[in-house]
Amino acid sequence: MTPRDWVVILDFGSQYTKLIARRMREIGVFSRIEAPDWKPDGTSPLPGAVVLSGGPQSVYDPAAPRPHPSLWSWDLPVLGICYGMQWMAHDLGGRVEKSPAQEYGPAELHILEANELFANLPQHFRVWMSHGDRVEALPPGFEVLAATEDTPIAAMGDTQRRRYGLQFHPEVSHTQFGRQILQNFLTRVAGMEPSWDLEDFVGRTIASIREQVGDRGVMLALSGGVDSSVLAALLHRAIPDQLYAVFVDTGLLKWDEPARIRKLFGHLRHLTLLDERERFFRVLQGVVDPEEKRKQIGHTFIEVFRAYARQLPGNVAFLAQGTLYPDVIESGHSRGPAEVIKSHHNVGGLPEEIGFALLEPFRELFKDEVREIGRILGLPQDVLERHPFPGPGFAVRIVGEVTPERVARIQKADRILEEEARRAGIYSSLWQLFPVLLPVQSVGVMGDRRTYQDVMVLRAVESTDGMTARWSYLPETFLERIARRWTGEVPGVNRVVLDITSKPPATIEWE
Ligand code: XMP
Repeated sequence: MTPRDWVVILDFGSQYTKLIARRMREIGVFSRIEAPDWKPDGTSPLPGAVVLSGGPQSVYDPAAPRPHPSLWSWDLPVLGICYGMQWMAHDLGGRVEKSPAQEYGPAELHILEANELFANLPQHFRVWMSHGDRVEALPPGFEVLAATEDTPIAAMGDTQRRRYGLQFHPEVSHTQFGRQILQNFLTRVAGMEPSWDLEDFVGRTIASIREQVGDRGVMLALSGGVDSSVLAALLHRAIPDQLYAVFVDTGLLKWDEPARIRKLFGHLRHLTLLDERERFFRVLQGVVDPEEKRKQIGHTFIEVFRAYARQLPGNVAFLAQGTLYPDVIESGHSRGPAEVIKSHHNVGGLPEEIGFALLEPFRELFKDEVREIGRILGLPQDVLERHPFPGPGFAVRIVGEVTPERVARIQKADRILEEEARRAGIYSSLWQLFPVLLPVQSVGVMGDRRTYQDVMVLRAVESTDGMTARWSYLPETFLERIARRWTGEVPGVNRVVLDITSKPPATIEWE
């Protein structure tokens, strides 16, 4: 980062804050999400602009988050969105009040005043609203730039001081021209040049990994998921002889996973595949409690990694992890959903256990950016669009006891499901799609014989980050094919049911 080539987003707890950050980067400006009361520390480069995010509170709430009091003295362009706009109005001498009615959903925006922020836009377009309060009186120096039927001050601006407020959400895809508005703010109002480029990032990161690592070695736990695969490719590019990648076959993975890994990463100089299936099945014997399953699997991973690390050359001093920016924000200041998606191997604490320093080159990146880096590094598309797969694997999709026989059945069902989803062209539009094996039998009939066999669930969800999810409305023909193939080809299954709950209230996984 150099001075003024990045934008800071102060996070007041909106569910859309991350989306603002992503949009900015898509426009080509590096963005960072910081706590509401963040301020420049005098040593790091100054941002070129400030965005105040939305948030669930009212500016009159004594516990409402507020920016650092020095905000207005930084003399930077500021864009306030929803709560951010209300805060701006309130703090600069305007008035905010409860709207007569909560406005939620689409609204028609009318531009009243030509302005740089709305340059190259039509006079009317659709925007997305989600607010309970609104600005009733402008602060001195501001003028009304746009209105909707229910919100007379839907956009305001003090052109001279480069301060703008939007009551609607330009970051969500339901707002037409939202990206253009953000781009206008960054480039026209703040005068920033789009310079965030992932090819550059790859080059810079390779150089900095080489510098940080020197002649020491790096251990990488390869799971086969997107993040660790892209990380392996990046580290191989940076320090091919010093990378020690290990893949653990837990027996709880998708069909044929070890062979896939061998095919994809067979060219790595030091690749170890550990067959630990027996060990994992042994610790899972008789375990039905979901948390106990996770605990046993987590411990076993740590033991396996610890034993592997012990026999590495003495110069190995780093553990590489594919930690992403959302994990970093969530574990830091964010007031957003408290839940954190569990890290891919569920082996928090491993670096301390084995005494290695952490190497996390993706700490500042979003998942889409990691995918893009994978593309730059030449990884195949099907690897980059793989659905997330939980660290404990099928153990959390088999309700009840996990046995090799039950895993074999769910693997087969999973393979059929993925094959059919790809064939139907729906795989990449889903966040996840998987079978769940229940410890429930039901009566069926095959030929003249009555059967008493297992029930299998089909779970398919759409989501952007796994924090919330919507059950997916799958084509009837697809559903029918799955039911037919599962009951016909997966031994011991005579009934298929569809999970039609969203998250919340359900979670995506069943355990
Ligand atoms: P839930 O089930 O909590 O899942 O709605 C949200 C996302 O997290 C994944 N998940 C896990 N990932 N270890 C993991 O590595 C786990 O124990 C675990 N549990 C859930 C899940 O697949 C979904 O994408």
